[in-house]
Amino acid sequence: MFKEIIALTLCCLFIAVYAAPATTTAEQEEKPHPYNFAFEEKDANYTLTRQEEMDEQGTVKGSYSYIDRDGIFRTVNYIADENGFRAAIQSNEPGLTNSAPAGTTFQIN
Ligand SMILES: *[C@@H]1O[C@H](CO)[C@@H](O)[C@H](O)[C@H]1NC(C)=O
Repeated sequence: MFKEIIALTLCCLFIAVYAAPATTTAEQEEKPHPYNFAFEEKDANYTLTRQEEMDEQGTVKGSYSYIDRDGIFRTVNYIADENGFRAAIQSNEPGLTNSAPAGTTFQIN
């Protein structure tokens, strides 16, 4: 079920991107096309969430998270803008410690 939702979401995204109205000037072509989407998949054993948005400046912000039925979770928040892609990971998974490899912060609760 989750794979179908991802496939459907990606499919819709591609359609949204390629179905964007034809532009006439170079300036219009460079303008970002803001969008946002969010969904959640849940059953007795886990909850998955995913959301992302892009604003008028082309800055992309999003997150995804997984929580199992024992409360073990991992949440990834990310941003992509003129300064590149940065991610911050929050988790309570056993065996992880706070760190910041490759500009990605790990916050272990
Ligand atoms: C949740 O996990 C249990 C144990 O693995 C399994 O028996 C059950 O079918 C799962 N429930 C769902 C909704 O997948």
